[in-house]
Amino acid sequence: MKKTILITGATSGFGKAIAQLFAIHGHHLIITGRRSDRLDKLKNELDNQASSVTTLCFDVRDKVAVKEAITSIQDRTIDILVNNAGLASGLSPIDEGNISDWDLMIDTNIKGLLYMTKETLPLLRNSTTPHIFNIGSTAGKTAYKNGNVYCATKFAVDAISQSMRIDLLPYGVKVTAINPGMAETEFSVVRFKGDKERAKKVYQDIQPLRAEDIANVVLFCATLPEHVCINDLTLTCTSQANAIYTIRDSEKPKQL
Ligand SMILES: NC(=O)c1ccc[n+]([C@@H]2O[C@H](COP(=O)([O-])OP(=O)(O)OC[C@H]3O[C@@H](n4cnc5c(N)ncnc54)[C@H](OP(=O)(O)O)[C@@H]3O)[C@@H](O)[C@H]2O)c1
Repeated sequence: MKKTILITGATSGFGKAIAQLFAIHGHHLIITGRRSDRLDKLKNELDNQASSVTTLCFDVRDKVAVKEAITSIQDRTIDILVNNAGLASGLSPIDEGNISDWDLMIDTNIKGLLYMTKETLPLLRNSTTPHIFNIGSTAGKTAYKNGNVYCATKFAVDAISQSMRIDLLPYGVKVTAINPGMAETEFSVVRFKGDKERAKKVYQDIQPLRAEDIANVVLFCATLPEHVCINDLTLTCTSQANAIYTIRDSEKPKQL
């Protein structure tokens, strides 16, 4: 059955990989993000594979824009909503934190996810197989040094996922929280405000997750039988135990 999947933050990283994978399987895509040039490019790339590709360019922090965007597709049914758009901005001890960074992360990762969910639910309720994916993080399971506000936003995603799963139970809406560990996308470049060298060091001497790994997990969860829901799934690369403990290749013992 061809489904309609709405993905926030499809211009890069996980969201783009999820769009590409669901296109291969011929689903209908609604791809969103703030960078219209990237949305158009992705639409061109996927138009021949997906059943259809619709682009919606807006900022998830802007509740009026979110409402307008979803109103523009109000005649559609949405089967899958992937609340993926998000970011980390900065990595500082709490006393040195930048308040604009805090606002940006809270407004995007928590409030953006809430606005999207609220506006999209009426279209999900038309579906016979409604499913919401919330992209959390290992940072939403264990707090790490200097992670303070980013971790808090992902702990919030965890709590919202747990609670919305209960609220939406009567309507048969599956809610799956996906909590990835370190993955090489544009995430660290954004966190370090364009400092590519610093971003690269995060993944030095390690094989991090790839965006495709997260896409595969989303597809797996989305194609389980109707009576099965993966509620909460944490995945890391093999060299990472949780948000704090990772091992670089050079630190590994020669043998067990
Ligand atoms: N990479 C990791 O290590 C990692 C680990 C765990 C969890 N995560 C989470 O996974 C999600 C995706 O991250 P990623 O690694 O794929 O990073 P990414 O490559 O930087 O992609 C982030 C996406 O979010 C979109 N976005 C950011 N702010 C937005 C806004 N205000 N309005 C609309 N879209 C916005 C961006 O699109 P535009 O800039 O075009 O708007 C982009 O498409 C995030 O929620 C992140 O917190 C990442």
